[in-house]
This record gives sequence, structure tokens and C-alpha cells, in this order.
Amino acid sequence: MSVISLLERRDTLHDAYGRHLHYLRVSLTDACNLRCVYCMPENIVFRPAASLLQDDEILTLVQVAASLGVDKIRLTGGEPTVRRGIVALVRAIKMIPGIKTVAMTTNGIKLAELARPLVENGLDAVNISIDSLDPEKFRRITRRGNLDDVWRGIAAVEETGLTPIKLNCVVTRGFNDEDVADLARLTLEHPWEVRFIELMPFGGTADFQQSQVVPSAETRARIEAALGPLTPVPGHNGHDPARPYRLPGARGIVGFISSVTEPFCEGCTRLRLTADGKLRLCLLRDDEVDLLTPLRSGADFATLRRIFAEAAYRKPWGHRLEQHEIAQSREMSQIGG
Ligand code: 5AD
Ligand code: SF4
Repeated sequence: MSVISLLERRDTLHDAYGRHLHYLRVSLTDACNLRCVYCMPENIVFRPAASLLQDDEILTLVQVAASLGVDKIRLTGGEPTVRRGIVALVRAIKMIPGIKTVAMTTNGIKLAELARPLVENGLDAVNISIDSLDPEKFRRITRRGNLDDVWRGIAAVEETGLTPIKLNCVVTRGFNDEDVADLARLTLEHPWEVRFIELMPFGGTADFQQSQVVPSAETRARIEAALGPLTPVPGHNGHDPARPYRLPGARGIVGFISSVTEPFCEGCTRLRLTADGKLRLCLLRDDEVDLLTPLRSGADFATLRRIFAEAAYRKPWGHRLEQHEIAQSREMSQIGG
């Protein structure tokens, strides 16, 4: 093997199954200004801020990841926009050599004020959660949210010119399974991507979630019955968990993320950093590697790099939801989807 190819290999992360891992999702906080029924219990207690990664610690770990070939960062939560200094943090992450894309998944509540500064400071893409177009149902699902805030947030993102705007809807039986056609209808007039996500059983709310799962096939049938046939959009990137379709004459795209009924583990390129500094190797498995402790006890860059790369290599193949094995150690809000 030539020296050049050895060097190239050293700068990319692979797991034992040969998957190239170059996408890191960073949870900035477990806290949120909403309490979605499928995400966290109503009476959740958030972690004390001192137990979370500090800004400089996040930047060090992203530098470590970037030095190993990670080029895409997605900021998640909880709700990433409730973290203090979020705009400066986006700016600093975007400036790290090797990082090409900084994206965020947000509930949109604070985007009316934050969209412009975030985009001006380097945010490249945003996914906004919106589970119903009915304000009452939206409040019931989020246990407190005001749908108008989300609309103002979406408008603010549109004004910045950032495209494409992606809207996420977690389909939850008895809460919004009857609202999916209204959400899909948005794509007729808007060049948005509306994505329907299968509810994933997770953490302490797993019992509730299991009975509330709506398979994507059912969501799709409901949309087609109301709005006509969904045609697959060609050129789908196998690493994007959302399978894209288009309604007749639509400007935008309808996507389905079918983590439960059609797992996409084979194409997974992701790693996750939890808000308390653990590298989580698969969303739906409890395997984690502690980075915070070595970081705080003074491990140097090379050591962190080695721990990170060795952990990534051990990424499990995929989830075991079919075998009814459910990750229990955390709520979704501590990992960020
Ligand atoms: N199943 C699927 N998606 C979930 N999210 C939160 N909890 C769940 C769950 N149990 C999604 C939110 C948001 C992101 C943070 O994770 O809708 O898009
Ligand atoms: Fe907050 Fe998002 Fe969880 Fe809803 S799904 S409670 S908005 S973190």
C-alpha cells in the first residue's frame, strides 16, 4: 500500500462493517422549551448545566472528529436553540478545518429571532419539527407549544434564503395520524421537504411509544388517498434515511423515515455526541464511550483521537427493535434523534 493511501485511510473513520462515518450529531442540551409526548415524560428533570459539555469542550471534540474525516455536524438537543451562546457556537464550529456543513434540528419556536443570526454565522441547513397544522393538536402533542411560533420561525428561515427547508413530523397514533395529508399538502405550493418519521420506542416512554407506532406504509396510503399517487424521486442518496416522493404537480418533496419497519442501518454514516460527552454509537442501542472524563482529566489531542476512532470502529451494526430489544438508558431528548 502506498504512503498516500495509508494517510488517506488514517484520516477517515470506518467501523468494523466498512461503513464510512463522517457525520456527527451533537446534542447541545437535554433541555427543551416543549415536552413532546413521544420524546420525554411531562415531569422530566433536565441535567444541571455543569454536567454538560462546555463550549470549548464541544469545539475540541469536533476538532477531533474533523481530524478523523468528519465533515458534517448536526446540532440537536433537546432543543439546541435554548443553549446560551448558540450563535457563537455555530460560528466557531463552522470555522473548524474540515467541517463543510453545519445543520440543526430544531422545534422552530425560537427561529423567528435566531434564523438570521444563525445563517449569517454559518448555519447551512435546518430541519424544523411540526407535527400538526391544527393549533390544538399541536399543543396536545408538545404539551405547551404555540403553533404560530413555529410558523414565524419557518418564515424567518425562508427570508434568509436557506434551502431546502425540511419539516419533520413524527407520526403518533391518536395524536396526529389523521393530520398527515394536511402536512403533505404543504409540498404542493412550497418547495419544502416534509418528512414523516416513524415513532421510535425509546427510553422510559417506550411502552407508550410501542402502541403508538404508525408504519410508514399506513401514512403513505393515507396521503395518497387524499392527494393522489406518490411517485419516487430518482437519485436518492442511500445515506439519507428519508425516502423521497412527489405528489402530482407538487413543488416540494414528501419523505418517509421508516426506522422501525424498514431500517436503513446499512447506509448509516452517523455518530452521536450526547450533551454529557458520551459518543453514542447507534441511536437505538445503548453502547456509548465516555469522552468527557478523558477530556476533563487532561487527555491530549492524540489520545482523544485514538479513543474516538476506536469507539467508532465498534459501532454496532444496527438496532434490534424487531427482536423487541429497546434502548433504555436515555430519553430521546438526551441524544437528539
Ligand atoms: N421517535 C422518533 N423521532 C423522535 N424525535 C424525538 N423523539 C422521537 C421518537 N420517539 C425526533 C423529533 C425531532 C428530533 C429531535 O427527534 O421529532 O425531529
Ligand atoms: Fe423538545 Fe424536540 Fe423532544 Fe419535542 S421532540 S420535546 S421539541 S426535543
